[in-house]
Amino acid sequence: MTTKVRTTDFREKKHRGEKIAMLTAYDANMARLLDKAGVDALLVGDSVGMVMLGYDNTVPVTLDAMIHHTAAVVRGTQRALVVADMPFLTYQTTAADAVRNAGRLMQEGGAEAVKLEGGSAIVDVVKRLVDVGVPVMGHLGLLPQSVHRVGGFLRQATNPRDADILLADALAIEQAGAFAIVLESIPADVARTVTAALDVPTIGIGAGPDCDGQVLVTNDMIGLFDGPVPSFVKQYARVAETVTSSAQSYIDDVRSGRYARSTAPKTPTPTT
Ligand code: KIV
Repeated sequence: MTTKVRTTDFREKKHRGEKIAMLTAYDANMARLLDKAGVDALLVGDSVGMVMLGYDNTVPVTLDAMIHHTAAVVRGTQRALVVADMPFLTYQTTAADAVRNAGRLMQEGGAEAVKLEGGSAIVDVVKRLVDVGVPVMGHLGLLPQSVHRVGGFLRQATNPRDADILLADALAIEQAGAFAIVLESIPADVARTVTAALDVPTIGIGAGPDCDGQVLVTNDMIGLFDGPVPSFVKQYARVAETVTSSAQSYIDDVRSGRYARSTAPKTPTPTT
């Protein structure tokens, strides 16, 4: 029987010293494959905007788009915890907006938790969400939704003062009730210090090996992408090359007439 991963398992995993493996998913098919592989959590990241929808950053991603992709991921998932990103300006305005919008991600999308970017500025929002029953994953370090303020996708907490601020933010977000915190693109020693200071697990991305878990954008991890990937990404496959060469073989077969003559299956198989 499949035992569903719950937000409450995260802290227990940290205390048992078990690392947490999280990956992004944006559709039901990929969710099914990653769930079958045994991933602990699937993040419906607002990276969907860049990875799937062709935007340069995550700012244009809407709540409706996140609900649409979250519902698809939930349909493909049996075991993993499904966490959905709250998009830009759906939680920074007021706690009431945050509750309403998180409610839509959970009720219409089926998310089991939401992820919010930011530190002290959103502590009251995190507290309110947790108080009304919405599990919250924090996100500190590089905050992609702040790309225009920061001036790019830049590594964060690279000096002692910023590292101290990040630690204070992490403690405040934990205190507000978050069950885990993503640490993106910060030095490994800063991530190690934050991880040791927190009772809840840290999930690193470009934050060194000492976080309690790791998350990657799946399309980067499997090479389903024909551009460069961030330097911290370990690529386990080059699926983009397989897609292109398979399509080339198909095109050659069709154009030469070989496809219809010799490669059509004898028994028709469903196409959907
Ligand atoms: O949107 C996303 O995929 C994320 C991960 C990079 C952590 O927030």
